[in-house]
Amino acid sequence: MVDSVKSGPLPRYYQLREIIRERIVSGAWAPGSLIPSERELCARYGISRMTARQSITELVNEGLLYREQGKGTYVGRPKIAQQLLRLTGFTEDMKSRNQRPGAKVLVAEMWPADDETAERLRIRAGQPVYRLQRLRLADAEPLALETSCISFIGCERLLANDLERNSLYHLLETVYDVPPLAAEQEVEAGIAAEEEARHLQVAAGSPVLRTRRLTTTRRNQPIEYASSVYRGDKYRFFTRMVRDHR
Ligand code: GLP
Repeated sequence: MVDSVKSGPLPRYYQLREIIRERIVSGAWAPGSLIPSERELCARYGISRMTARQSITELVNEGLLYREQGKGTYVGRPKIAQQLLRLTGFTEDMKSRNQRPGAKVLVAEMWPADDETAERLRIRAGQPVYRLQRLRLADAEPLALETSCISFIGCERLLANDLERNSLYHLLETVYDVPPLAAEQEVEAGIAAEEEARHLQVAAGSPVLRTRRLTTTRRNQPIEYASSVYRGDKYRFFTRMVRDHR
């Protein structure tokens, strides 16, 4: 393992960057741990403050490190790779990663569908739908803000359910007999608006992923139209594609 910065053809910032990268990749520095300060790195490797800063900045830009104002620089946590192959809900996704799912209900109400929601859910505009806005947490950490509009006969009964402790998909499947069977989803880049940022505990203007999902039950009947905002530093989506035989 290389552990010194030498003069030679490789720029010093590059050498230090690779030393730090090795520490992270090998697990010597754990996700979430504080790394030595710029001053400590300068003393340890006999380099200038500017060089240390450049190495760190590059790793921050790559997402391997993150800075916290007034505290220092920390090792980043690997992003949650959210598959888009099978239709799953948040609770299932977190459980399969051995993380504790959580939710804070911000809104749970009957709401007259606006034009876009009505069109997607194939109902008339103004028809009441159950509207649920939740902050979704994994191990108590905020990951996403989700707003779901649910429409089926009797959907107002959902008002009586505790959606902080129960999975929506599980309730739809087991209590209401409208199992989520398929979904179409789009993903778009965006930046966090002030209120979203406050809930997600990121700075306003931070990168986010915005998704819209239309979920259907039997006979292709729409039951949920959901818009979600995922923290860009926590998520990446992946899917798998197969080329048609020609
Ligand atoms: C995902 C989807 C939402 C859906 C939710 C259900 O996060 N983006 O559209 O409402 O899962 O999650 P749960 O079953 O945990 O309530």
